[in-house]
Amino acid sequence: MSNDYHHISVLGDEIIKYLDPKAGQNFIDCTLGGGGHSARILDLNGPKGKVLAFELDPRAIKAAKSRLKDYKDRIVIVRDSYAHLKDYIKKENLKPIQGIVFDLGLSSDQLDKADRGFSFKDHGSLDMRFDPENQKLKAEDIILNWSESELLKIFYEYGEVKQTKRLVQGIIAWRKTFLKQKQKELKTSMFVSAILEILNIKESNLKKHRIHPATQIFQALRIAVNSELDNISKALPQALDILESGGRIAVISFHSLEDRIVKHYFKQMSQGCICPPESPVCNCNNKAKLKIITKKVIEPSANEISANRRSRSAKLRVAEKI
Ligand SMILES: C[S@@+](CC[C@H](N)C(=O)[O-])C[C@H]1O[C@@H](n2cnc3c(N)ncnc32)[C@H](O)[C@@H]1O
Repeated sequence: MSNDYHHISVLGDEIIKYLDPKAGQNFIDCTLGGGGHSARILDLNGPKGKVLAFELDPRAIKAAKSRLKDYKDRIVIVRDSYAHLKDYIKKENLKPIQGIVFDLGLSSDQLDKADRGFSFKDHGSLDMRFDPENQKLKAEDIILNWSESELLKIFYEYGEVKQTKRLVQGIIAWRKTFLKQKQKELKTSMFVSAILEILNIKESNLKKHRIHPATQIFQALRIAVNSELDNISKALPQALDILESGGRIAVISFHSLEDRIVKHYFKQMSQGCICPPESPVCNCNNKAKLKIITKKVIEPSANEISANRRSRSAKLRVAEKI
C-alpha cells in the first residue's frame, strides 16, 4: 500500500458472506479506509458491477486508490461524509444498489499516527479530525473553549465517563493555567497528565485500572469532533431508501453507542403493525421495511482476534430491505 498506510480489515469474510456480491451488482462502501472491504467486493462483482465509496481521510484515499488501481473503472471514491449518501447516488446515477457496508470508527493508521491525536499513548497534538484539511473543529478546541455544560454533555453522552462533574470542573480549572502559558498547542500527553492529576490517579497505579482512565474521554472527544453518532443516524435511513428490495445493509461498530443506534434502527424498521396492543384491529397500516438477518450480533472469531487484536470489540449487524 502507498504512503505506509496500514489497517487490517475486520470481519471481511462475514461481510462477503452476508452481502454475497454477484457479477454485475453495485455496492456502497461508506467507510473505504484502506479499501479492504471494497477490494473483496470488487473481486466478486465484476466485470460490470460498481462500488461507490466514501472516505474523509486523504491518507486513506491515497492508499485505497493505489490498492484498488486495477479496479479504477469500477470504483468511484468520494471524499465526503457518508452522511451525504443520497446526494452522490443521484449524482453518480448508480442503481440498483445491492449492498451497503459501514465499518465505523477509526483505522489503525489513524490510531497509530501520533500527529492525528487519536491515541492517548502518543505525543501528538490533540486533534482527532478524520479530515484534517477540511474539518475545522479539533479536540483541542473543545477542551480549551467549550463551556462546562457542553463538556459535561459530551463526556456523559459520548463517553459514559465516570466522575464527569469532577473531571469537567478539573479541566476548566486546569485550562485557565494552560491558556495563561500561551503554549502553541495542546499535546495528547499533556492532556492525559491533566486527566490523571484531576482524577488523582498516579501513573504507577495505572496497571490497577481495567482500562486507561483516558479511554472514554478520548472516545467522547473523537465522537464530538467527527459528529460520529449523528452521521450514522443520518445515513441509515438514506441507506434504506436507496437499497434495492432484497439488498442488505451491513454495519460493523466498535462501541456500544454506535451499536445501539444500529440495533434500534433495524428493530424499528423491522416492525410491522405498531398499533397499541389493546387495539382490536390494525389501523396504523405500518409495514416492516427491513428484515433482521443477524438475530444475534456477529463477532470476530477467536482466530481473527488472535491475528488482529483490534478486531476484538467489533460487532456486525445485517438487515435486508423487504
Ligand atoms: C475502520 S476504517 C475502515 C476500514 C476499511 N473498511 C478497510 O477494510 O480498509 C473506518 C474509516 O471510515 C472513515 N470514516 C469515518 N467516518 C466517516 C464518514 N462520516 N464518512 C466517510 N468516511 C468516514 C475513517 O476515516 C476511516 O478511514
